[in-house]
Amino acid sequence: MFLGIDVGTGGTRAIVINRDGTVLASHAIDHAPISSPEIGWAEQDPDDWWRAAQGAIRGALTQANVPIEAVGLTGQMHGCVMLDDSGAVLRPALIWCDQRTQPQCDWLTEKIGFDRLIELTANPALPNFTLTKLLWVRQHEPETFAKIRHVLCPKDYVRFRMTGEYAIDMQEASGTLLLDVAHRRWSEEVAEAAGIPMAWLPRLFEGPEICAHINAAGSAATGIPVGIPVAAGSGDQGAGAVGMGILKPGTVSATIGTSGVVFASTDKPTMDRLGRLHTFCHAAPGLWHVMGVTNGAGLSLRYFRDTFTPTDTYDDLLNLAENVPAGSAGLFWTPYLFGERTPHLDAKARAAFVGITASHTRGHFVRAILEGVAFSLRDTLTLFADLQIPVNEIRLGGGGARGKLWRQIQADVYGQSVGRLEAEEGGAFGAALLAGTGIGAWPTVEAACAATVRVAETTPPASAELMTAAYTEYQKIYPALKSIGRS
Ligand code: XUL
Repeated sequence: MFLGIDVGTGGTRAIVINRDGTVLASHAIDHAPISSPEIGWAEQDPDDWWRAAQGAIRGALTQANVPIEAVGLTGQMHGCVMLDDSGAVLRPALIWCDQRTQPQCDWLTEKIGFDRLIELTANPALPNFTLTKLLWVRQHEPETFAKIRHVLCPKDYVRFRMTGEYAIDMQEASGTLLLDVAHRRWSEEVAEAAGIPMAWLPRLFEGPEICAHINAAGSAATGIPVGIPVAAGSGDQGAGAVGMGILKPGTVSATIGTSGVVFASTDKPTMDRLGRLHTFCHAAPGLWHVMGVTNGAGLSLRYFRDTFTPTDTYDDLLNLAENVPAGSAGLFWTPYLFGERTPHLDAKARAAFVGITASHTRGHFVRAILEGVAFSLRDTLTLFADLQIPVNEIRLGGGGARGKLWRQIQADVYGQSVGRLEAEEGGAFGAALLAGTGIGAWPTVEAACAATVRVAETTPPASAELMTAAYTEYQKIYPALKSIGRS
């Protein structure tokens, strides 16, 4: 039996699975809201993740009531956890959607060169990536920077609390901008150019490798017995892809969580010379992946509800949207609440509703949000087509896989059938599969997926032509509004 832990943005979930891939237990605990002291800033307290992880693990272990053989971790990527030499947290973590570091991105790009940075790390400097957050702290909080001795990503901090080890996996490390993604090793050239000591970086492992064991303090806090092996795991997108069986070229996932990601596996590092897609190591050894990211996907709906209709549940809102025809009667939403990565690479992009008339109701606004998020994910499919990355099958993940309406909208906007999987736990499920592979329950990650990942249901498109016409309109919005309201 394997425990998968997903340190997400909104909360931490722990699940227990068996060797058939049956989910025996699942328990989640919310995090405190993201703190955003200034526009574009996003911070969380690593010890709040640890609090939530302890609760989630204890809840799942009690529910499952079976012995655990191995633990796998996944979580929100890119967050920068800074620790002193005793392992104490020095300041709140700057997380993946924090957009304050464009000046540091510009500095680094200037220093190393845009093309050279892509050669070295497979990616351009984006404010989401960990290294740029460290550079901000160096410039604005030199006293804190001087005390840093270890840098970790969010789930790796939770691992540190459970095991005392400073470790990271290749997929997660790809999102730091410090990894030589093509050669699966830290890039000394980038670290040196950026002025970051290599000694701060955790040890690198492949996703299924056992990199640590539960120690006494970790056991006392979580209830997992001392000595249980912990696999390196993967960032949420890598583990989510494992949980959805995205390992062969042609099978692609579209996951809508807080962010939205379209993900394809590749057998070599496929770099976009313009840096519009991320090229990362996959969670499975010997594979890479490309992905396009919408920063404000599920976040769009959450933002709308929290800001305008706080007493409605998501189901209330989705019911309203169900009665609105495809295309939302010409109302559009561009989901750039936290700037945008794919395809615009523009930290200052702003979200917008466009085309409002007096006949639009709340249901139209909700449907326009769902459609706008799906259009934004289609932008990645458009780039995949440009780069000749094959898309034969699309599998859905995250909240976007759960409701019938979300699934239908995605089938219509992507213009092809979309599959929903039996196990909906995505990242946590993939992390548990990596843990099982790590202790030899399956010989490879591919074998783990073959034994456990099953498509439950397929939704064919119903209004593909209409939504393709709407997508053409949607594509005009960003260039038209680009220069308005930026600060
Ligand atoms: C991936 C990314 C998100 C975050 C939060 O690049 O930024 O998936 O990990 O979910």
